[in-house]
Amino acid sequence: MVKMKLFIHLFSMILFFLDHGVFGIGSERESVSVMEGDSVTLNTGVQTNQQEDIKWYYNDTRIAQISGDLSFICTDVQCNNDTERFRDRLKLDHQTGSLTITNTRNTDSGVYKLLIISSSRNSEKIFNVTVHGVSAAERDEVKRESVMEGESVTLYPGEIRKPNYVMAWYFNDTRIAEITGDTNKTCTDVQCNEGTERFRDRLKLDHQTGSLTIRNITNTHSGLYKLQIIIINSSFSITRAKRFNLTVIGECIIQLFN
Ligand SMILES: *[C@@H]1O[C@H](CO)[C@@H](O)[C@H](O)[C@H]1NC(C)=O
Ligand SMILES: *[C@@H]1O[C@H](CO)[C@@H](O)[C@H](O)[C@H]1NC(C)=O
Ligand SMILES: *[C@@H]1O[C@H](CO)[C@@H](O)[C@H](O)[C@H]1NC(C)=O
Ligand SMILES: *[C@@H]1O[C@H](CO)[C@@H](O)[C@H](O)[C@H]1NC(C)=O
Ligand SMILES: *[C@@H]1O[C@H](CO)[C@@H](O)[C@H](O)[C@H]1NC(C)=O
Ligand SMILES: *[C@@H]1O[C@H](CO)[C@@H](O)[C@H](O)[C@H]1NC(C)=O
Ligand SMILES: *[C@@H]1O[C@H](CO)[C@@H](O)[C@H](O)[C@H]1NC(C)=O
Ligand SMILES: *[C@@H]1O[C@H](CO)[C@@H](O)[C@H](O)[C@H]1NC(C)=O
Repeated sequence: MVKMKLFIHLFSMILFFLDHGVFGIGSERESVSVMEGDSVTLNTGVQTNQQEDIKWYYNDTRIAQISGDLSFICTDVQCNNDTERFRDRLKLDHQTGSLTITNTRNTDSGVYKLLIISSSRNSEKIFNVTVHGVSAAERDEVKRESVMEGESVTLYPGEIRKPNYVMAWYFNDTRIAEITGDTNKTCTDVQCNEGTERFRDRLKLDHQTGSLTIRNITNTHSGLYKLQIIIINSSFSITRAKRFNLTVIGECIIQLFN
């Protein structure tokens, strides 16, 4: 009985040491939760990888690797000679070795293991990624808004902004408004893009929610608006996009109906 207890004690101590990296490998664990269609970047925390070999595993299959001298780089099928699970959805940052999975799918859920091998120290990090499924309709949704010339419209992000969210609004692929995380720094229109003053003083960005109001709208403001939400964590970041199709109804049409 005593022997058994001693054994269990010893066993749990070994587990503790394994978990805390006493045997030369530091191990950390991070839970990452994303919505299907999001992009997610898993950070190595490495500034430049000149000194380290970086390896990524998905459920124990190697999916990306970059060597310190850049002489060997592979992603997905090049690494494992197996199924093309990710196809062109894996991006490996050649500077930091950070791994981005774009357009995530339900089936990307699982354990991503990062191994950093250097001459002085090896370290290991586990990212437990959960991809929450959404319907295709929801993922591809383009919200429709129509507004009459001269009136105002507000576009809502549809999620609650947290301090670690960066929200950027684009019109026709030009950035027209942005609110960054902790500092609550914002820009609108010409401050954001050094381009044309398409909106002048018509834009109002809500610092609390990130919603965008366009006042006194004209028909030149019809088109596709995109909101990019970047959720920043020290060891990962998540990028999500929402689209809005805005139609400005001209006065002549209104007169036609009167
Ligand atoms: C993949 O497997 C095939 C057949 O086993 C082999 O000829 C080829 O060299 C392998 N490629 C890599 C990159 O390991
Ligand atoms: C990867 O592991 C997760 C759980 O750890 C499991 O749900 C998933 O089916 C696995 N995927 C593959 C392709 O093995
Ligand atoms: C990963 O996270 C999910 C949900 O948080 C949890 O159910 C699962 O047990 C975790 N898996 C591992 C291997 O940590
Ligand atoms: C949006 O961009 C397209 C292609 O660059 C251009 O043809 C179109 O006129 C632009 N629309 C607006 C409203 O600026
Ligand atoms: C940013 O704005 C939010 C909402 O107005 C506020 O709660 C938070 O304290 C602000 N953060 C900073 C760093 O000013
Ligand atoms: C609305 O915009 C038009 C130009 O499109 C301008 O002539 C008018 O003064 C503006 N109205 C207000 C209330 O700002
Ligand atoms: C980063 O993620 C960890 C674990 O999920 C969480 O405890 C931490 O609060 C997150 N940090 C930020 C800045 O969101
Ligand atoms: C936006 O909606 C209009 C009709 O309301 C449609 O003609 C146009 O194709 C839509 N554009 C996009 C990019 O969905």
